[in-house]
Amino acid sequence: MAEFALPKNSRIEKGTHHKAEAGAKRVRAFKVYRYEPEDGKNPHVDTFEVDLDDCGPMVLDALIKIKSEQDSAVTFRRSCREGICGSCAMNIGGRNALACTTPIEDVPGDAVAVYPLPHMEVIKDLVVDFKGFWAQYESIEPWIKTSTKDPSRERVQSIEEREKLDGLYECILCACCSTACPSYWWNGDRFLGPAALLQAYRWIADSRDEATGERLNDLEDPFRLYRCHTIMNCTNTCPKGLNPAKAIAQIKKLVVERKM
Ligand code: SF4
Ligand code: SF4
Ligand code: FES
Repeated sequence: MAEFALPKNSRIEKGTHHKAEAGAKRVRAFKVYRYEPEDGKNPHVDTFEVDLDDCGPMVLDALIKIKSEQDSAVTFRRSCREGICGSCAMNIGGRNALACTTPIEDVPGDAVAVYPLPHMEVIKDLVVDFKGFWAQYESIEPWIKTSTKDPSRERVQSIEEREKLDGLYECILCACCSTACPSYWWNGDRFLGPAALLQAYRWIADSRDEATGERLNDLEDPFRLYRCHTIMNCTNTCPKGLNPAKAIAQIKKLVVERKM
């Protein structure tokens, strides 16, 4: 039976309330999780009032405004601000999402709750530790593996073969899916999780790859693959509209089929 223990200092305390500028008419509060590991204190939730008439439409716009104008220490990752890099993944209004593609007006509730991705170790504020996630990604060997002689030019792929990668290659490795998966919460050290498994299937499905047997051998494991119980949180949360649960089902099907 699983045993759970909360980390030291995990009780979240009330933080500071930052008021909007005087005269602001369309104000919305953002409740932002704050954690500074070096001060030895408990995490807390600060409230920032933001004037929506002087802010871009996305949650990331509000975070950047908060950092620029109210508290420069608020820490979060972001880069592309258009749903490509995957670095601004966080839990917004109780749902894992990309801050840069989440409209503020779509977040339910009076205040916009902004927390780090769940069940990941927090480095600071909204920044979580991706070391384990990247190690899992690396473990599926995300590159084309071949055993036949290199062709003189490229390894040709038909239009139909290329289409089999649609719905897979678009994954930006944001981890919204894996950190929404209960199986990953409880067994994240041994279950690969939906992101790494979708990526694994992306290479299995690639007509140019010649290591399908080896890849399936590596995945066929009670934990690495079979901790997925088709709960579907992954598919429901993916900000790119992908379907990791279906990719996992395809891997399971291939494992069964090769035994027949
Ligand atoms: S499948 Fe979707 S949610 Fe999961 S890592 Fe890829 S883009 Fe993010
Ligand atoms: S379908 Fe599988 S991987 Fe997706 S959330 Fe459920 S258990 Fe996790
Ligand atoms: S900043 Fe790149 S996905 Fe949001």
